[in-house]
Amino acid sequence: MSDIKKIKDEYLAKLNEQLDLNLINQIKTDLFGKNGLISNQFKQLGKIPEEERKKFASDLNIIKDELQNLIAFKIEEIEKKEINQKLEKEKIDITLPERPVPQGKIHPVSQVIDEISSIFSEIGFSIEEGPDVENEYNNFTALNTPDNHPARDMHDTFYLDEKKELLLRTHTSPVQIRTMLNDKPPFKIIAPGRTYRSDSDQTHAPMFHQVEGLHIDKNINMGHLKGCLNYFIKEFFEVDKIKMRFRPSHFPFTEPSAEVDIGYEVKNGKIIIGEGDKWLEVLGCGMVHPNVLKNVNVNPDEFQGYAFGIGIDRLAMLKYGINDLRAFFDCDYRWLSQFGFDPIDVPSSYRGLSR
Ligand code: PHE
Repeated sequence: MSDIKKIKDEYLAKLNEQLDLNLINQIKTDLFGKNGLISNQFKQLGKIPEEERKKFASDLNIIKDELQNLIAFKIEEIEKKEINQKLEKEKIDITLPERPVPQGKIHPVSQVIDEISSIFSEIGFSIEEGPDVENEYNNFTALNTPDNHPARDMHDTFYLDEKKELLLRTHTSPVQIRTMLNDKPPFKIIAPGRTYRSDSDQTHAPMFHQVEGLHIDKNINMGHLKGCLNYFIKEFFEVDKIKMRFRPSHFPFTEPSAEVDIGYEVKNGKIIIGEGDKWLEVLGCGMVHPNVLKNVNVNPDEFQGYAFGIGIDRLAMLKYGINDLRAFFDCDYRWLSQFGFDPIDVPSSYRGLSR
């Protein structure tokens, strides 16, 4: 048997064994590398007597092709097998139950702020914000509450320095001052946010939430205030009729001033808004005092209007049947999963507003 036949038989046999890519590449080099068995045969061609050379060359080429084809085939076979194994291993099992995705809840206070913002936006109020840390001037003096005014004691203020120049705002009313100092009338804004007073029981927390409202224009009167609040309460509680009572009150920054109660009754342990003979105080309001307007360079003979401050937490408790205010701020996740709101359930018009 000639050399090349032997090589052919030996390597055909080898290539039909169980091989991996490394072994095949090794065979490839053994045969066709620089000093490979087949490569060397080609180098010998010149030494072969002429009459045999043609036949030898032709045989050699046939063997070369045969071996090369088989090598290519084997490589493809192995690669295909690897891909199939991979597909088999990495197949997605669509019968598996999905893994639960942890989802947060919207806090009832955030939800209510969104609802309030949405209702007032629809009747032309824009939303303003102010800082929790305020100066004494914006929180009191500019609001016609000078030093030693008795109203200052009522606010149980958290002061932040000895001189009592910085404090945690006791209400959202300083945002009225900031807004009016920054711009020219007319103003029609609400300002939701956190407020602070040193006070704590079932219906009072040292931090709570208010939304301030301010509407200043020419010829705004108390009728507008009543209409606006009536509309808001009906929209908020989603009722057609509401019982509302304006009680004369006093705030240094409004004249006249009123506190607003809404009528309710308790039926089968549930609070029903708009019926019954019980009253719940929900907000303070009044016509903005001329001194306040002067303090922010607005001419009270030309412009006037109303302001109100609504306790957000109280409204949230009422609307969603939560009876202890302190639970709002305990950060208990179990409570939040019971009383919180799914982001998906929030009406799209509420999303993205406020805070
Ligand atoms: N700032 C007042 C309070 O916190 C509420 C209020 C706001 C009253 C605006 C009148 C006008 O009690």
